Amino acid sequence: SGVEAMKITVVGTGYVGLVSGVCYAELGHSVICVDKDPLKVATLQNGEIPIYEPGLQELSVRNAELGRLRFTSSLGDSVKGADLIVIAVGTPPLPGGQANLAYIELAAQEIADAMEGRPVVAIKSTVPVGTNEKVRELIRERTDCPFDSVSLPEFLREGSAVSDTMHPDRIVIGTDSPRAEALLRELHAGLGCAFVVTDIRSAEMIKYASNAFLATKISFINEIANICEKVGADVTRVAEGMGRDKRIGASFLKAGIGYGGSCFPKDTQALIQIAGHVDYEFKLLRSVVEVNQDQRFNVIRKLETIFGGELSGRTVAVWGLAFKPDTDDVREAPAQEIIGELLARGVEVRAYDPIAMDNFRSQFGSGDGSVVWCGSALEAAAGSDAVCLLTEWSEFGETDLQRLRAVVREPVLIDGRNAFDEAALQGTDFIYYSVGRPS
Ligand code: UGA
Repeated sequence: SGVEAMKITVVGTGYVGLVSGVCYAELGHSVICVDKDPLKVATLQNGEIPIYEPGLQELSVRNAELGRLRFTSSLGDSVKGADLIVIAVGTPPLPGGQANLAYIELAAQEIADAMEGRPVVAIKSTVPVGTNEKVRELIRERTDCPFDSVSLPEFLREGSAVSDTMHPDRIVIGTDSPRAEALLRELHAGLGCAFVVTDIRSAEMIKYASNAFLATKISFINEIANICEKVGADVTRVAEGMGRDKRIGASFLKAGIGYGGSCFPKDTQALIQIAGHVDYEFKLLRSVVEVNQDQRFNVIRKLETIFGGELSGRTVAVWGLAFKPDTDDVREAPAQEIIGELLARGVEVRAYDPIAMDNFRSQFGSGDGSVVWCGSALEAAAGSDAVCLLTEWSEFGETDLQRLRAVVREPVLIDGRNAFDEAALQGTDFIYYSVGRPS
C-alpha cells in the first residue's frame, strides 16, 4: 500500500489493547503488546487468547508467525524505539462511579522513564475529559524526551471487535500536533474510513457522548416497549418504523431487559460524574440509567403476575448469563441481579449459557448451592415452572418448542430479548411473555 511499517507498542492486553494490537499487526505494522500480568503474556505467547472473541486468535497467531506481533511483560524495553505508544489499560469504576486512573498513571510513568526519540503517545482507554492533558504533564515532569499526545478513543464492540476495528465508521484523532495527526492518519489509511480530527478534550468527550447516546436509545426503546405492552402495540414494528427515518437510524432500538457490559454502565455513570464536577446535572442520562436499572425487573414482575405473586418453591430456568450474545463477558450482566432476585424469593434456579458459564460461576456463583448449573438449554428447562431467556444466543431462539414442552413442568416462557418468533409460539400452550409485544 506504500505505507511504511511503524513500530507500535500497545500497553494493556485487555479487550481494547489486544484487539487493537492484533489489528495494527494485520495492517502490516510491527507491534509489541505489553501486559503486567506474566501469566497472560505467557498465554498470548502460546497463541492462546484469554478472551472469547470470534476471529481474534487466528489473526493473532498468524501475525505472530509473520514476526509482526510480539507479547512481553517488560514495558520499558518495549517502548524503546517505538514510533507510537498506545495506552489501553483499564479504567474500572471507583465506588462513586468515577473512572479509576491509577493504571493509566502508572503506565504513563513507566513510559516516561523509558521512551526515546520522539514518539506519539496515544490514550485509547476511555478517560474523563482532561486526562490526556494531565497525563501529558505527568510525562513531561519525568522526562525531557519530546513526544506528541493524542486522544484516540475506541468504538469496538465485544463479539465483533475484529470486524469493528478493521471496518470502523470513523477514527477520532484528538491532538494539537500535526505530526501526530499525520502518523495516525497513515496508521489507519488502509481502513478507508472517515477521520474526525479534533482538539484533545473534544475527542475524550466524543467517546462518552457516543456511549451515553447509545444507552439513551436503548432506554428510550425500552420505555416505549413498556408502554406498548399496555396499549397493545408491538415495539418491534414501532422500532422498525422509527428506524427507517435516517435521522433516527434502525440500530440500538432493540427492546429487552436493558444494557449491561463493561462499557455502558461504567461510562454513563462516569459522564454523570464528569458533569457533576462542573456543577451540571445530566438529568437525561440519570433517567437513562434509572430506566435501565428497572427494566431487568420486568422479568421478575412477569413471573409474579403469572404465579399470583408467590415464587417461593418454584423452579426457574435461566437461559443466558453473558451480557449479550457471542461473548463470555458477564460484567454488569442483567442475569446477575435477576438470579439474585429469584434466589431471594426462594426460587430454585437452573442456569445455562453456551460460553459464559465458567465466568459467571467464578464471579458470582452462589455459594449456597441454590443454582443448578446445566449443560444445555433443555437440561436447564427440565422440570421448570418457567424458562427465562436473558441473552439472545441464537441457539435459544431456534429451540424446538415441542421438545421444550416435553421437559418443562409448566409451559411458561419469559423472553427477555424478543428472541422467539411469535408465530412459532402459536398453536402451543406456552404462556409467552416477550418485551413490548402483545402477549
Ligand atoms: C459498547 C459500544 O457499542 C461500543 O461502540 C463501545 O466501543 C464499547 O461499548 C466500549 O465503550 O468499549 P459493547 O459493550 O461491547 O460495546 O456491546 P454492545 O453491542 O454495544 O451492547 C451493549 C449492551 O446493550 C448489551 O447488553 C446489549 O444487550 C444491549 N443492547 C444493545 C440492547 O439492549 N439493545 C440494543 O438495541 C442494542
